[in-house]
Amino acid sequence: MNALRHLQDELSEMERAGLLRTPPAAAAPAGMLVLCSNDYLGYAGLPLPSELASASGAGASRLVSGNHEAHLMAEREIAAWLEMEAALLFSSGYAANVGAVAALARPGDVIVSDALNHASLIDGCRLSGATIEVVRHLDAEAVESALVRARGARRRWVVTESLFSMDGDTPDLPHLRELCDRHDAALVVDEAHALGVCGPRGTGLCAEAGVRPDVLIGTLGKSLGLHGAFVAGSSTLRTYLWNRARSFVYSTGISPMVALASVDRVRRAAADDAARARLTRVARRLRSGLQALGAPLLPGSSGPILPWVLKSPGAAVEMSQRLAGAGVLVQAIRPPTVPAGTSRLRITASAALSETDVERALAGFREALR
Ligand SMILES: Cc1ncc(COP(=O)(O)O)c(C=O)c1O
Repeated sequence: MNALRHLQDELSEMERAGLLRTPPAAAAPAGMLVLCSNDYLGYAGLPLPSELASASGAGASRLVSGNHEAHLMAEREIAAWLEMEAALLFSSGYAANVGAVAALARPGDVIVSDALNHASLIDGCRLSGATIEVVRHLDAEAVESALVRARGARRRWVVTESLFSMDGDTPDLPHLRELCDRHDAALVVDEAHALGVCGPRGTGLCAEAGVRPDVLIGTLGKSLGLHGAFVAGSSTLRTYLWNRARSFVYSTGISPMVALASVDRVRRAAADDAARARLTRVARRLRSGLQALGAPLLPGSSGPILPWVLKSPGAAVEMSQRLAGAGVLVQAIRPPTVPAGTSRLRITASAALSETDVERALAGFREALR
């Protein structure tokens, strides 16, 4: 008897619905242009500086014997970059969001969560046991109504991304800060896609808007081209998460080698206005080229994320396959990553793309659209 026989049934059901995901090739074939990574500054392919000497593994949870000087150096560097009091490293953005939100909010609290928040924020909200008020995407009035309704709650939290990963749009952060202050709520902002990319010295959209979130989450795996993540805020927040964030406490500390590399990458990103300018040029050219080809990019999207909604999973997969045939890798994004009826190509710009690459990519889109 095979106790897991139902798995094949579920996979077949997913295949029938056009939602089965099959692993892509381990690396894009040579010559293929990648327009779906989060490697916005083009750092992911860089080797680590040879003078970086550090232990490869932490060996244990940071609370046991896995706390290394490299972790502390990285946390100081990140905090200084973002002008926050402190930061705490996590092994991924997923772990940071699940761990932080679930540790901070409790049953009896209300979390006001944007409808398009990342799965890791959603999972953190669910794990916390708090009441979750999902509000329409970017709807500050809905946030306010939810906060008014939550007046009697133990505590109130507003959770949002700053640059939404799948839609490439941005909430009115100063308005959210003002609502949080007025209703005694804490503002939690995931800056995964904005750090390195937006704001002065790449410090993100909160910094650009002059907003201080109570909790700021950033990743090392996107524009910084490494792996891992952090939560930044007050020293008290860091100590609290050190004690209470289960994905931190009950997990091996991130590799000290990666932590040390992140010191280098944060310094590099902070100084790299040239890469940000290249990224802006690439994104603008892609946007205008795609619009000229009649690809309806999502209104409201801006910057390096260019979502082209094709609605059905089949249409998104077919266009992705046609693009692959034309030498351009853009994976189809389907439910449950995005809501039903909004399957899409999430096209991303990178400073690593040369002008020739961008023109070749647009020629690939032209061919795929024919
Ligand atoms: C908004 C957002 N937050 C968090 C994550 C998770 O980050 P990581 O890939 O480091 O787990 C992602 C990446 O998918 C993301 O898009």
